[in-house]
Amino acid sequence: MGEPGRERGQKTRGEHLRVGVLASGRGSNLQAILDAIDAGRLAARVVVVVSDRADAQALDRARRHGAKAVFVDPRQHPDREAFDRAMLAVLDEHKVELVCLAGFMRLLTPGFIAAYRHRILNIHPALLPSFPGLHAQRQALAYGAKISGATAHFVDEGVDTGPIILQAAVPVLDDDTEETLSARILAEEHKIYPRAIQLFVEGRLEIQGRRVIIREGS
Ligand code: GAR
Repeated sequence: MGEPGRERGQKTRGEHLRVGVLASGRGSNLQAILDAIDAGRLAARVVVVVSDRADAQALDRARRHGAKAVFVDPRQHPDREAFDRAMLAVLDEHKVELVCLAGFMRLLTPGFIAAYRHRILNIHPALLPSFPGLHAQRQALAYGAKISGATAHFVDEGVDTGPIILQAAVPVLDDDTEETLSARILAEEHKIYPRAIQLFVEGRLEIQGRRVIIREGS
């Protein structure tokens, strides 16, 4: 992968960054990315969508958009490392430059993260570092938080611990259920995730330890 004389991910004018999306389910964040591309708000190309579930709606959304949709079956691989290597082979085949997790419900192995270091993004339905992991909205309700939200962040070896790019807050209302809170948060996810990806595309994200500095646009 990569080309001589050019940093990975750094684009020449007129080229669009080649994005691979990993998704396990509904794929509404994938759809938000595809819609942002169609609307000209995101200068990227989703070249492949990979799922660990054959029936993921995200795969249908990919096909409808004309992107390659690939199911990688976890049961066909003896361990997580082998499964991740199979996903990496698909991403490599499609010359993916940036990996976006969009409701991908598996932990990536250190080998995968090393292969795409600082080039994996995730969207999480809470204001990290609060409520990492599964069922973040349920966790926020159970804890009695008054404010929750969405976080777009780089992925590192931890569970939702990578440097934060953008966050958006929403109120938690007294009569919220997991469903109503999730819907309010999801609307914010769909706004900040494509924006965070576009900032990456523009080369404006500078990681300084835990902090992500957003450089001025030209
Ligand atoms: C989204 O709310 C996303 O933030 C969350 O799963 C949902 C997927 O929805 N991801 C996580 O909880 C990851 N820890 P989608 O398939 O419609 O994008």
